[in-house]
Amino acid sequence: MNRSPVSLQREGDIGLLLIDNPPVNALSPDTVQGLIDALAAFEAAPELRALVLACEGRTFVAGGDIAAFEDPDFSAVPYNAFLGRLEALTRPVVAAIHGTALGGGLELAMACHWRLALRGTRVGLPEVKLGLIPGSLGTQRLPRLAGAEKALQMMSTGRMVGDQEALAAGILDELCDGDLRAAALARARALVAQDWQPRRASALQVPTAGLAPDFFDQAVALAEAQFHYPALGAIARAVRAAATAPSFAEGEAAEAREFMGVLRTPQSQAMRHLFFAERQTGKIPGLPKDLPLRSIERVGVVGAGTMGGGIAMALANAGLPVVLVEATSVALERGMGLIRKNYEATVAKGKLAADVAEKRIALITPSLSYDDLAQVDLVIEAVFEDMALKKEIAAKLGAVVKPGAIIATNTSTLDVDQIAQASGRPADMLGMHFFSPANVMRLLEVVRGARTDPAVLATVMKLAPRIGKVAVVSGVCYGFIGNRMAEVYMREAEFLLMEGATPAQVDGAVQALGLAMGPCRMLDMAGIDVGAKTVIELGKTGGLPADPSYRALVQALYARGQYGQKTGAGYYRYEGRTPLPNPDTLALAEALAREHGIARREDISDNEIVERLIYSMVNEGARILEEGIAYRGSDIDVVWTAGYGFPDHAGGPMCLADLRGLAHVVQRLEHYAQVRGNAHGYWRVSPLLRQRAAEGRTLSLGAR
Ligand code: NAI
Repeated sequence: MNRSPVSLQREGDIGLLLIDNPPVNALSPDTVQGLIDALAAFEAAPELRALVLACEGRTFVAGGDIAAFEDPDFSAVPYNAFLGRLEALTRPVVAAIHGTALGGGLELAMACHWRLALRGTRVGLPEVKLGLIPGSLGTQRLPRLAGAEKALQMMSTGRMVGDQEALAAGILDELCDGDLRAAALARARALVAQDWQPRRASALQVPTAGLAPDFFDQAVALAEAQFHYPALGAIARAVRAAATAPSFAEGEAAEAREFMGVLRTPQSQAMRHLFFAERQTGKIPGLPKDLPLRSIERVGVVGAGTMGGGIAMALANAGLPVVLVEATSVALERGMGLIRKNYEATVAKGKLAADVAEKRIALITPSLSYDDLAQVDLVIEAVFEDMALKKEIAAKLGAVVKPGAIIATNTSTLDVDQIAQASGRPADMLGMHFFSPANVMRLLEVVRGARTDPAVLATVMKLAPRIGKVAVVSGVCYGFIGNRMAEVYMREAEFLLMEGATPAQVDGAVQALGLAMGPCRMLDMAGIDVGAKTVIELGKTGGLPADPSYRALVQALYARGQYGQKTGAGYYRYEGRTPLPNPDTLALAEALAREHGIARREDISDNEIVERLIYSMVNEGARILEEGIAYRGSDIDVVWTAGYGFPDHAGGPMCLADLRGLAHVVQRLEHYAQVRGNAHGYWRVSPLLRQRAAEGRTLSLGAR
């Protein structure tokens, strides 16, 4: 039998309950059972006069067992009953807290009678980030200790609070430096010596002095208005119960009801799915675990434009020295100037200390010579999207960077294998596709070339979290995972506009789903010119369907010089940044429809817009899986939520399709094939999607 992760030791006449469940002392079923057993042992040892509860390793209990929520029989009852018994002890119980006490960990600490923390400790109830609410009396004890406003704020954002803030709020009783366990034992002895009577959070009243009479009802109404996140309403209602229920037990029952209510919501399922999905992307099938990685300590970036500058900042923010190479001194100065301006803006907003910003800028060395790249471990090329230029630079880099260095291209559409071939070192090469602004956006698509050395791939995947990115591997294809799917999404948006929907209607329909921005606003912001050029370039390589109406609107807008926000007109017309209806564009869409024989309709519903945009994208995602471009459906969901503003509460497009049912998705695709016609194969259902639907399986959700 395995050793229990919990033990009860004796330190003279004080019991020391120790949790040792690396890495973060999460509340596994074994740990909960260990706690129950250790408490029973303490109860049976009346000679012990107080209990200290502490954790081995780098942190106090930092959360629950998230995988356990997927179990249909999940129940919080055993743990909650344990917390009740712990708090009910008549001998003092001291929590000795270090690291991060999160979720079930903070709930454990709040059931103790005294909370002593090592300086630097942080605490929080982050359940909302999984679409859940604290389910082990956090919603009941925290408002009693910290007040309703603070508790609501902490639980609704999931934010961690630092030691000083937690002390001031009454969540912690005392801070110490040095030997936490010794200090906790000393505190326990002192309490015993004073004959101190345990102070139980459950016995306190939620302080309501100073709160408006309708404070709780207002809080509930505000939270419920954010209907995409049902956990917010549940948290507010549970806190209201903490303040207004006649007894703690009734508040506890209210919390349990609310918890079970959110546990099975699609929103929470989706957010938990993403939690696991993000932890999964680094696992690359077929790669040996012990593959020796290359070391990355110095990085080069070629091109100091929009992307190169952002990439250099992302690297410098992680403390990596960067050599930034440009073709001309004018471009180099402009690039460095923009980087400086960017940092200064962050400092001005109070989000970064001025000296830290200076240190980061100092990490970036501007240069006009490729020779300065000789000693870097990784170089990322971010020059214009031009195959001839990219090949020329790849060849230069292949010749100049030291053996063993990794060469990456930030191309968004070009064939990484061709560029790799040009470098003369295809095994050292891959794509690193950042998203704009590269110092802000979390997504990094890592494009694995046909000849990329597995160690190169694994090294870059390992680098990603260091520079604040979540990396997803993509195979080589046009647009990789994200932009390839965005292309079909834009295709349908444009057809709908030509059929008679307005940009506001198309955007509104997907924004109601929770997407940050609909396709028309997105392209107006990114630039119609940028969008049109990629379509035109794709056409030149023979990559477009033989359909003259394909994305005809974006090309016509481009031809008219309507580039979106930057020229004041695109799909919309702009006053400042405010999008307004653009009658010219509506007329243009109508003229194009006439030219291409597209029937105009007045009955386009929001549901049709959502289905045509999202389901066609899901279908493309299934093809991406079929072709092995993505390793798993959940990787595709990470691409869309981390890189394209797809809402976390929907879990990504593939998860959305799973939750709605793949059979339904197939049926709707077939419906559109029939009513829209399928001459160009737009509605051809992916065989994988069809097969999964027939087998009642999923593409992403739970398909780990
Ligand atoms: P940009 O035009 O802002 O910057 C390109 C820079 O490369 C310019 O500063 C130019 O002076 C420099 N450059 C040109 N030839 C050079 C050479 N021989 N040596 C050194 N520097 C040279 O372009 P942007 O937007 O930064 O795009 C760069 C790459 O990133 C492209 O491949 C693009 O497709 C890709 N990309 C762009 C995204 C975006 O949203 N802008 C998103 C993801 C990838």
